[in-house]
Amino acid sequence: MTETVSAAPLDVLRSRTSEKWSEYPDDVLPMFVAEMDVPLAPVIRTALHAAIDRGDAGYVASRTRLPQVFADFAARRWGWQVDPAGVFTTADVSMGIVEILRRVVTPGDGVVITPPIYPPFFELIPEAGGVVVEVPLVGATAADDEAGPLRLDLDALEAAFRAGAKAFLLCNPHNPVGRPHTADELRAVASLAARYGVTVVSDEIHAPLTQPGERFVPYLSVSDEAAAQGYAVLSASKAWNLAGLKCAVMVTAAAATRDLVAGMPVEVFWRTGQFGVLASIAAFEEGEPWLDGLLDLLDGNRRSLGALLETHLPEVGYRMPAAGYLAWLDFSHLGWTEAPARRILRETRVALQEGAPFGAAGRGHARLNLACSPDLLTEAIMRISALR
Ligand SMILES: Cc1ncc(COP(=O)(O)O)c(C=O)c1O
Repeated sequence: MTETVSAAPLDVLRSRTSEKWSEYPDDVLPMFVAEMDVPLAPVIRTALHAAIDRGDAGYVASRTRLPQVFADFAARRWGWQVDPAGVFTTADVSMGIVEILRRVVTPGDGVVITPPIYPPFFELIPEAGGVVVEVPLVGATAADDEAGPLRLDLDALEAAFRAGAKAFLLCNPHNPVGRPHTADELRAVASLAARYGVTVVSDEIHAPLTQPGERFVPYLSVSDEAAAQGYAVLSASKAWNLAGLKCAVMVTAAAATRDLVAGMPVEVFWRTGQFGVLASIAAFEEGEPWLDGLLDLLDGNRRSLGALLETHLPEVGYRMPAAGYLAWLDFSHLGWTEAPARRILRETRVALQEGAPFGAAGRGHARLNLACSPDLLTEAIMRISALR
């Protein structure tokens, strides 16, 4: 049964000490960093309260139930058969990505990303010794603005692989455009990767936030080629709002990839947060009715954002996200000379994420976090519309 999920009251949000509600003064509506304004799911609160009552705040155990619980969730939710023996925990998705890349590239190797893209990818790759190779999404530039959904450019990916890139850091569903790549696209990626000896690391952190009626396809599930050379990194942290608890899973589906992760220094696994493991187990095992309620709230907001923009800011481009709670807004038709998020913050006190750090294709854009109350979303758009 679906639970009802709504945003926490404003006074509670303002008392939070994490990034979203503490970065700016009280007159700013914070719609930037990817945290949500909802309370924790009751099953997670119960699990964490019980852990606190037990004083259960030591080091994470070397064997936990999380791999099995995650595999069960993946099978129920996506029909993805995961072998729990190929699932390893670490502190967060970023760390999982870096630790895997570190072992598949030699310093100086190219690693492909597909801008506009989650800005930290530009830093995680050099952290792992790689060099960023940009292959923008089709439809990401003003020139091909109207060419359907923003999607992977398979021809350009092939060219980058042929030119020597050693890895591809895939984002599925894609942040910031909120699109799960299709099975056909992913199969094509896997076959190109196999042909050119490229390792694919698929960041699937937003996958549980795929809307009903849309389809998330796990990269490792699309073909034998994908399973043989790919890695996936996921967590409960976006969908259940647990980023501060530090827990993610690295998933493998073949002996060689499993051995590579199993051979990481034990510290990589030890850095997993104990409360993160307990909360993630509760989320994946018992948190689906809450997740479905959250998706209802987000569905209402992604639709009403479309309606609000159409009425009050019709020049702003918006394609409704199929997954996640981030809206990628194109302000480039307004003719502003200043970067949009900067102007909007200064003049309307709404904090969006600036588009330029998402890559060159992000210029003139800003990302809005719609995981808030419908009232706050309306207020933000009304404030921004005063700028027209
Ligand atoms: C695509 C993507 N990957 C990784 C992260 C960061 O995840 P973590 O905090 O687990 O490193 C985010 C956060 O929003 C994200 O959107």
